[in-house]
Amino acid sequence: MSNAQTRRVSISDLAAKKKSGEKWSMITSYEEMTASIFDEAGIPVLLVGDSAGNNFLGEENTIPVTLDQMIMLARAVVRGSSRAMVVADLPFGSYEKSPKLALESGIRLFKEAKVHAVKLEGGKKVVPQIKKLISAGIPVMGHLGLTPQSVYALGGFKVQGRGAGSNQIIKDAKALQQAGVFALVLELVPEELAAQITSELTIPVIGIGAGPKCDAQVIVWTDLMGLTRNPPKFAKTYRNLRQEITDGVKEWVSDVQNGKFPAEEQSFH
Ligand code: KIV
Repeated sequence: MSNAQTRRVSISDLAAKKKSGEKWSMITSYEEMTASIFDEAGIPVLLVGDSAGNNFLGEENTIPVTLDQMIMLARAVVRGSSRAMVVADLPFGSYEKSPKLALESGIRLFKEAKVHAVKLEGGKKVVPQIKKLISAGIPVMGHLGLTPQSVYALGGFKVQGRGAGSNQIIKDAKALQQAGVFALVLELVPEELAAQITSELTIPVIGIGAGPKCDAQVIVWTDLMGLTRNPPKFAKTYRNLRQEITDGVKEWVSDVQNGKFPAEEQSFH
């Protein structure tokens, strides 16, 4: 995909990358500023993850995030980008109860936030929800392995699909593909399992803590850039923005105290 591209990345572009073997990246974004930075950097897919709960809204985890909050954040990400596909999470409580509820929530994200696809967590049990969304023209991304909305049921943030558990994840992955998801996130699973699923599925598999063999990788941007206090083991930190911001703010405070700010350049006559 060249930077000169003027249209948004589509699900067909991602399917083509699976065929050609070109690896790609998806990054989270929760507001306009990072959306425009990541969009200009050429990242093809922006994920308005419900990880906004613990990475933007100060919650303990993703569970308290509401559909209204997701719509507000996703709308800002769509406004801040012009070429990336924007995918938003259906938050906990906005789809589990019935396919009808899933469709109503998906329609709100589509119409009010103008996202291009939605993501939801779970395997076979959410297939009716997935089919309902797709039948209305809403592309759906699946999410298996460690599904953070089920963190209490899973007993914590632990690697999923070790030993006998691997069969269930493989079955679920195939059920989601059969239901029509255009891509699948695999979170915190052994790399051997992710490699097998990636080679057996015809849709793109996007890994996070799932090893290097997936078709694509997704990362929470605050983990990548050193803003998260205790980033997970699978997230490599490429910059230390927490330190950069702290240093910059302290420098400004000191300049204010010493009368160096504002200087002539920042003053009016
Ligand atoms: O909410 C999120 O950011 C996610 C990614 C970790 C895949 O679901």
